[in-house]
Amino acid sequence: MPCTVIVGGFWGDEGKGKIISYLALHDKVEVCVRTGSVNAAHTIWCEGKRYALHMVPGGFVNENCRLLIAPGANVHVGQFLKEVEETKTKNRIGVDNQASIIEEKHSAQDKASAHLKGLGTTGWGVGPAIEERVRRTARLAKDIQELQPFLADVPQEIEEALTKNTNVLLEGTQGILLSLFHGTYPYVTGRDTSASAVCSEAGVGPTKVDNVVLVLKSFVTRVGTGPLPGEISKEDAVKRGWFETAAGTGRDRRAAPFNFELAKKAVMINGATQIALTKLDALYPECKGARNYGELSKETKEFVLRVERETGAPVVFIGTGPDALDLVDRRK
Ligand code: IMP
Ligand code: MG
Repeated sequence: MPCTVIVGGFWGDEGKGKIISYLALHDKVEVCVRTGSVNAAHTIWCEGKRYALHMVPGGFVNENCRLLIAPGANVHVGQFLKEVEETKTKNRIGVDNQASIIEEKHSAQDKASAHLKGLGTTGWGVGPAIEERVRRTARLAKDIQELQPFLADVPQEIEEALTKNTNVLLEGTQGILLSLFHGTYPYVTGRDTSASAVCSEAGVGPTKVDNVVLVLKSFVTRVGTGPLPGEISKEDAVKRGWFETAAGTGRDRRAAPFNFELAKKAVMINGATQIALTKLDALYPECKGARNYGELSKETKEFVLRVERETGAPVVFIGTGPDALDLVDRRK
């Protein structure tokens, strides 16, 4: 493993949280770094409890994992403190001095802007907060009283962990099609969401990365406005068992069948070395809870092989249920 980047291959909500929690536990990750901002919610199931984390890295499920928030990330102080409390991680979480701060005024600006409203943003204010950072008037973590006990030098900590050859996970947010550079502009979020951008936000040079895990859900979903090729109706999504609501905002997620062409593009731009295919049990209910490749039906395996053939990347992880351990790990 040593340095692994996890990114989403579609419009977010591919199940990154689940893969992160599996790797954190199974691969004994020692450092997990969150990038991005509060708009993204990562759903993690741990000991029967569901967490929708907007700030705390998903690796928290491993009690020995150091949790870090990247210098390029954008921190909502209130949400951060609330989640630190909820996950009981006060003694092992750090925020980089240079992370920028998102404030109430940014959320108000987001909600008041007809243009941003038209894009169907999450309303947290991430776009306006990043605008402020670009103007060089944003406040940084080091300027905030409540964050003083958590301040850290994240690139330095990552470097030390990698020097000791311990496992480091860089946790991306959203998906490549929401990228400011590579997505369906202007229906995108306020930052690049590619694996390269995750490294840049964390302060890790590209030569230090060993693996890029691209997370793809077995069907495609999107919240907010913008194109969604092959979109089906809500009724149809309900019938197929693909209807979901957003972990963060509670909005309905639009749905479409798995898209091989977009998956191929996502592998290309992220330089993915491995694919994690999640929610395969939604397409093939008979594989629910499977933990060995041999337990999968012929049809399920055919789908997995087609994803590999069309994208050119190996499907290494297969999600078969919500729990971190409901997963087929083909590295074994
Ligand atoms: P913003 O990131 O709040 O500015 O929203 C811009 C677009 O990105 C909207 O379509 C949102 O629905 C979408 N978006 C932002 N974060 C997430 C996420 O974590 N999952 C899915 N969609 C997201
Ligand atoms: Mg999400």
